[in-house]
Amino acid sequence: PDNLRELARKLGVRMGSAVNATALAEEADYRRVLNREFDHVTAENAMKWESVEPQRGVYAWEDADAVVRNALRNRQQVRGHTLVWHNQIPAWLTEGVADGSIDAAELRKILRDHIMTEVGRYRGKIRAWDVVNEVVDDDGNLRQSIWLTHLGPGYIADAFRWAHQADPRAKLYINDYNLEWNTNKINTTLGIVKDLKAQRVPIHGIGFQGHLGIQYDYPGDFADIMRQFTDLGLEAAITEADVRMVLPVTPEKLATQADYYKRMLSTCAANKRCAEFTVWGYTDRHSWVPDWFEGEGAACIMDENLTPKPAYHALLTVR
Ligand code: XIL
Repeated sequence: PDNLRELARKLGVRMGSAVNATALAEEADYRRVLNREFDHVTAENAMKWESVEPQRGVYAWEDADAVVRNALRNRQQVRGHTLVWHNQIPAWLTEGVADGSIDAAELRKILRDHIMTEVGRYRGKIRAWDVVNEVVDDDGNLRQSIWLTHLGPGYIADAFRWAHQADPRAKLYINDYNLEWNTNKINTTLGIVKDLKAQRVPIHGIGFQGHLGIQYDYPGDFADIMRQFTDLGLEAAITEADVRMVLPVTPEKLATQADYYKRMLSTCAANKRCAEFTVWGYTDRHSWVPDWFEGEGAACIMDENLTPKPAYHALLTVR
């Protein structure tokens, strides 16, 4: 294969990227490479609650619409990210809950409304939704959040049921980080999935974010872990792959990074139920890593000039 779209066809795995809506609007080279290489996209921020409803009842769909429009024009499928999360929630909501002006009953209505509105808007245009994101913490407890505190653990089942009502054909995912190796998180998440299935809640997929770093050992059990979830009948996806490093960049580090990317994609390619491999930004020009991990960067498969790095070439060799 000469590019990732061709690779996707050969492997039977959709190849995706997170999309920076500003770059999509303003950078022709960014747009060109995105549309040449990928058959799947996720809005990096544009579909998050704080982006789509910055003031109560005031919606801002422009960026999200632009990502979806570009995708449809370029025969790309879309992952919706994300409906229920503890981060990037609008201030009016957090503040209203904190000052008591929004009580639990109202919060539940607000959540239902948010899910129905957003999923409904893109009904038929989103292949898969990250319905709940990062709902388990690293100790394996349900994450403390306004959702858990005020609505109780049933908010997870509710969210899936509402999303299914709003778009019955979308694949509905639970998505998390460190799920490639953290035993506490894995076991709790397996429990949640089994529990939802026992209650006949519409859950269809498990998303492994895939945020790795070369300063840590590669998570060698990942393939087995993915299998434990897909054996429950779930589809799987690697939803936010990147492989960061402590700067400066060296040829050795780039080679290790390439190996980590290749092993992640191979894990997906080897599992019949793994449907999608998405990178969390394809270029070091637009990556969350330097802003979030001090001293780290260069996590993507292309550099700032959109030149493919060893990781890109390594992905093309996956069979
Ligand atoms: C990140 C974005 O990349 C940043 O631009 C933003 O400032 C913070 O969120 N897990 C997720 C993603 O599910 O939504 C996060 O995206 C990265 C970690």
